[in-house]
Amino acid sequence: MELFLDTAQVDEVRRAAAWGVVTGVTTNPTLMARAGGDPETILRTIAGLIPGPISAEVIATDVDGMVREGRHLASLADNIVVKIPMTAAGLEATHRLSREGIRVNVTLVFQPGQALLAARAGASFVSPFVGRLDDIGEDGIGLVAEIVEIFRTHRLPARVLAASIRHPRHVIAAARVGADVATMPMAVLEQLMRHPLTDAGLERFLADWQAAQQARAAAP
Ligand code: E4P
Repeated sequence: MELFLDTAQVDEVRRAAAWGVVTGVTTNPTLMARAGGDPETILRTIAGLIPGPISAEVIATDVDGMVREGRHLASLADNIVVKIPMTAAGLEATHRLSREGIRVNVTLVFQPGQALLAARAGASFVSPFVGRLDDIGEDGIGLVAEIVEIFRTHRLPARVLAASIRHPRHVIAAARVGADVATMPMAVLEQLMRHPLTDAGLERFLADWQAAQQARAAAP
């Protein structure tokens, strides 16, 4: 499973890129608004830092507007994927853009029927929102598992991108059920690498090494 960063903060992308574990980035209008600054500059910069897919979301809600914005976003960099919401207009825009060779990530997917339609319309990525489903007492990872099963059974080429990831257990669960990608905030990526026993273990190794050095130096 690939790991994407869910952010529009350039400094976070730069930091994660240096670790060599992140192969793509997802943004959305909320993340863009939070980042401030010019969205096109942000997208171009991020697209230059990570060679993999960078999702950029349209704001328009009508088909022609989405297609127009999608074409423009895709022209900003070769690795930009256009993010389109799961609506009837979104499906039509996905169909039109994918026929032009523009990759689309269909977002705001909350049930398997939506995923099937998005894949049939030509989406390259389909994004089920795990955390937001869990928030209302539903089973976000269960949805990811269902979509993975449907896509594999019917050999649909769309990739399952587990989104709205809130904690490391979501990432591991998404990997176990076969998601192709999980996109997560920087805080979750950082949590994935930590364990208190790692810190305690390192502290102990260094203290033992130091003590041995001092003993050697003090020896006659
Ligand atoms: C996905 O592409 C979205 O940007 C994102 O994962 C939404 O997550 P949220 O529910 O934490 O806002």
